[in-house]
Parts: sequence; structure tokens; C-alpha cells
Amino acid sequence: MRKKVTVVGVGMVGGATVQYLAKKDYCDIVMVDVVEGLPQGKALDLHQAGPIEGFDGRLIGTTDYADTANSDVVVISSGLPRKPGMSRDDLLFQNALIVQSVVEKIVPQSPNAVLIVVTNPLDAMAQLAYHTSGLPKNRVMGMAGVLDSARFRCFIAEELNVSVQEVTGFVLGGHGDTMVPLPRYSTVAGIPITEMLSEERIKEICHRTAYGGSEIVSLLKTGSAFYAPGSAICNMVDAILMDKRRILPCTVLLEGEFDVHGLFMGVPVKLGSNGIEQIIKINLTDEEHTAFQKSAAAVQELIDTLRTRLIF
Ligand code: LAC
Repeated sequence: MRKKVTVVGVGMVGGATVQYLAKKDYCDIVMVDVVEGLPQGKALDLHQAGPIEGFDGRLIGTTDYADTANSDVVVISSGLPRKPGMSRDDLLFQNALIVQSVVEKIVPQSPNAVLIVVTNPLDAMAQLAYHTSGLPKNRVMGMAGVLDSARFRCFIAEELNVSVQEVTGFVLGGHGDTMVPLPRYSTVAGIPITEMLSEERIKEICHRTAYGGSEIVSLLKTGSAFYAPGSAICNMVDAILMDKRRILPCTVLLEGEFDVHGLFMGVPVKLGSNGIEQIIKINLTDEEHTAFQKSAAAVQELIDTLRTRLIF
């Protein structure tokens, strides 16, 4: 039997995810949204690309969670973008309510699924989904690090005029301005970039990486990135469904690892069919450790704000 993947929220990110995933042609896909007609329309449209692109998995669009039953992986990308006049906190609470209600509807249908949360603010939403779901911690994670490190890799490859395929990028921390790109662990064909680029250029590239999402928002004006996020989600789904045991940066519950207790943060993990198979611990310099703790404090602040109005 083919594996089953549900994508909840089929806006630009959910839509791009499904497009990448359909091309893999190894799973059935369910697209869910609250807007009647939107998931059905997108699913039908993509289905009709199948004969041209050469995929023939089952692809359905629905507003009914019963159709999502027994999914192996569920991607949660539903949420609102920030609108003019809206504070970050307004967005936080609105998206929190959406994520909570999606998790409450999805988990009874697919109690064995791995959840990948994509809604922003990412780290807080992943944590909320985890507490709401009652699932074990290895089966709830957020997607951010794969996207952030892809951006980092792009900028490094561009700077050195080499193929992105030679470049690995290591990014830790929360998904936001406080994220922690680690040049020491980022390489070109195994050579640390610290040996190939000046400190100043590395600093600039790290800064551009941390603001990678905002750079796109300010260009698009009416939305945020979706191609690279969709591709990053697909990469994680792939590692889980194919039990690849890839080492990827994902947002997961830390309980003492990296000196963080009870908080979702981005760290390298081994990703396989059980979800997070292992958290990979690495040594940090004092400076890196301080940056990571600063990022944790920013995530903690969001969680504390959420807990003033929501119980989880
Ligand atoms: C970004 C948003 C999607 O980083 O979080 O582009």
C-alpha cells in the first residue's frame, strides 16, 4: 500500500509542497483547507498535471478531516499572514487557535502520524502542536532549519561560484532573526567555509540568511516565500517516508540537550520512519552557545506570551 501524506492549509506553501511531493510519485496526498473549493480545485488541477509529469498517485482535495484518516505524515501549514495593523502577538494568537484546532481534528484520524508544523511563528506553533496532540515527542517537529540552511547554502555557493551540491550549511536555533548559522560546521566539499571566506563576508552571509524570509516578504509585498519552504518540507517528508535517516536541522523538543529545557528549537536530528530518531549533539564555542541561548530566550518569550491566554 502506498504511504499517505496530508497537507493541511493549501495556500502557497501547502500548494508548493504538494507539487514537489506529487512528482515523487510514492504517496497518496490529501489536501485540506477550510475554504470550500480551494483544496478540491488545487487537487484537481495538480491531478491533471499527472499525465504530463508522469505521476499517478491518488490526490484529493477536501474540507472533511475524515478523508485524512490513517495518514503517515501530516504537514500543518494553515495560518494567516500578517496584515497591516496587526501586531506579531495578534498573529501569534490567531495562528495558535488555528493550529490547535487543526491538531485536535487531525490526531484522532491519524494517531500514528508524524506531524510537521510549518505555521509561523514556527517554534512556538510546533510546541503548541506537540502539547495539543499528546503524541510522543519524536513525532512532532517543525520545519525551519532545512529552509534556513538551504538559504545559507545558496548564498555560500553564489559567493564562491561553486555548485550548491558541494555546499553544506549548518543552522541552529529558532526560526527568526535570532537563528544561529554555524560557519565552523558549514563546508564546501568538506572544507569549512571559515577557510575559504573572510570573517567579514561570512558575517554578511549569516546576516542575509537570518533575514532570508524577510528579504522575500519585502520583495513580494503581499506574501512570504513558498517555493523553498515547500521544497524543504518535501525533503523532510521524504526522509521520513523513505526511512532515510538523514541528518537535517529540525525544530524539536529539547529536554536538556544544548542546555535548553522544555522548548522547541532547531537542532540537527536524524530523521527516519519514527520521525526524530536521534538528536545530534555537538560542541558549541562560548560565542555559539551564547547565541543559541539568546535564540532560546526569544522562543521562550513567545511561549510565555501564548500561555497568558492559552492553556497548553
Ligand atoms: C520564511 C517563512 C516562510 O522563512 O517563514 O520564508
